[in-house]
Amino acid sequence: MSDKYTQFVSRGLGRDLARKLGLPQPVELRRYRPGQPLVEGPVLIQGAGTGADELAAALLAWNLDVRRHAVPREKLGAIILVLDEASRPEDLEKPVLTAGASLRDLAANGRVITISRDAAEAAEAAMPAVAAARQGVDGLLRSLAKELRAGATGNGIILADGAQTTSPSALGALRFLLSGRSAFVDGQFLTVSSAAGQLPEDADRPLAGKVAVVTGAARGIGAAIARTLHRDGATVVAVDIPAAGDHLAAVANDVHGTALQLDISRDDAGQRIIDHAVERHGRLDIVIHNAGITRDKLLANMDQGRWTSVIAVNIAAQLRINEALLASEHFRNTPRIVSVASTSGIAGNRGQTNYAASKGGVMGMVRATAPLLAAHGGSINAVAPGFIETEMTARIPFATREVARRLNSLQQGGRPQDVAEAIAFLASDAAGGISGGVLRVCGQNLVGA
Ligand code: NAI
Repeated sequence: MSDKYTQFVSRGLGRDLARKLGLPQPVELRRYRPGQPLVEGPVLIQGAGTGADELAAALLAWNLDVRRHAVPREKLGAIILVLDEASRPEDLEKPVLTAGASLRDLAANGRVITISRDAAEAAEAAMPAVAAARQGVDGLLRSLAKELRAGATGNGIILADGAQTTSPSALGALRFLLSGRSAFVDGQFLTVSSAAGQLPEDADRPLAGKVAVVTGAARGIGAAIARTLHRDGATVVAVDIPAAGDHLAAVANDVHGTALQLDISRDDAGQRIIDHAVERHGRLDIVIHNAGITRDKLLANMDQGRWTSVIAVNIAAQLRINEALLASEHFRNTPRIVSVASTSGIAGNRGQTNYAASKGGVMGMVRATAPLLAAHGGSINAVAPGFIETEMTARIPFATREVARRLNSLQQGGRPQDVAEAIAFLASDAAGGISGGVLRVCGQNLVGA
C-alpha cells in the first residue's frame, strides 16, 4: 500500500528528475497528530465586513497569528477569504484578486478557505444577482484548488441563513479545514445549516465521554475509524461479521473498546447494536455506518445475487438500523450518524451499477434523515472517499492503480486515516450545525469533482 513514487520524487535525484520531465510531484501531506499546531504560519483574513472582523477576533482568541493585510514575502499558513456579503458578481473582484496576490506566499501544505453564503437560498428567494455571486464562489474555489501545489488545499464553508462566520459549526469547520485532519480534503464545501453545535473544551479530545459504534471495524477504513474515534476520546464498539472475529477482537483490544460480532443485514441488527452499547457502556451517541461490499460486474452480466447483496449490506441495512435508532429512547441526546458513501455514487464507475446505486442511496438517505434527527439536536452526514490506499485498491493492477491514484489535485491516494479524520469531525459536536450533506475525501478527484 506504500506509494513508492511519492517517496522517490520527494527528495534528491528523484525530485530533480520529476521537475525536468514535468512529471507529477506529489508531496507528503501534513497529517494531524495530537498536540500539533492548528496551522503553521500566519493566517491572512481577506474581506471586509462584520463577518470578517468577528472571525478575525475569534482566531486571535485561538492564539493564531492573524493578519488583515499581507506583509510582503511573509510565508503564510493559510488564507481565509470571507465573501459572505457578496451580493453581485462584481463584489468578488477586490477580495479575490487581493488574496490571489498572496498565493505565491502560501507555505507548503497551506490552506485557502472561502466563507460564503448559500446560493440555493438566494435562488429560492428569486435573487439572481445574489445567487450568481454566491454560486460564483463555487466555481472560483474549485478552480483555485486545482492551481495550488505542494500539498496545499482549497476548501469552502457555506453559511445558510441561520449561521454566521462565528457560529460554532462554522468555527468547527474552519478548525477542521485548517488542520492536518483535512489533509486529503480538497476542492470541497461544508455547509453550515444552523447555529447548532458546540466547540470542544479540549481540541485534541473532541469526543471525550461519547460512546461510538463503528460497523465493518475489523480492517481497512473501519479499523482506522475505530482508532481515530478512540484517539479523540470516544469509547468504541467495533462491529463486524463473525467470520472476521479475530481481527475484530484485535481492533477492539487496541482501542480499549468492545467487539460485537454481527451481520448488519440481519433484521434485528439495530436493536442488537443499541442493546450492546447501553448494556456495556451505558449510552449510545454516535453510529458510523462503514461496513460495505463490492460485487462488480457490467450490468449486462449482472446476476441477482451480486445486485441483492450489495444493496442489502450497503444501504438497506443502514436504513433498517437507523429506523431502530430513531425509535430508541437511548439515541436522543444530540445523536450523530455518519455513513460512508463513495465517489462512485456521485460520478459513476464502470462495472459498479449495483455499488453506485447503493452509495447514491446512502447520500439520498442522509439528506432525508437529517430532519428526523434534528428533532433531537442530532445530525447525519455522509463521507465519500475517492482513491484510498487499502487492501482493496492494492489489488488493482499496477498501471490502472498508478493512473487512478494520480488523478486528483494532490496527485496521490488518500489513506484510511484521512477518511477517518473527516468522519471523526462530522461525528463531533463541533459539526452539530452541519447535517444532511456529503463530504468528499478524494484529494479533488478529477472525475466527478
Ligand atoms: P474492506 O472490505 O477492507 O472492509 C469492510 C469491512 O466491512 C470488512 O471488515 C467486512 O468484514 C465488513 N463487512 C462486510 N459486510 C458486513 C456485514 N454484512 N456486516 C458487518 N460487517 C460487514 O473495505 P474498505 O476499503 O475498508 O471500505 C470501507 C467502506 O469504505 C466501505 O463502505 C466501502 O464501500 C467504502 N469505500 C472504500 C473506498 C476505498 O478506496 N477503499 C473508496 C470508497 C468507499
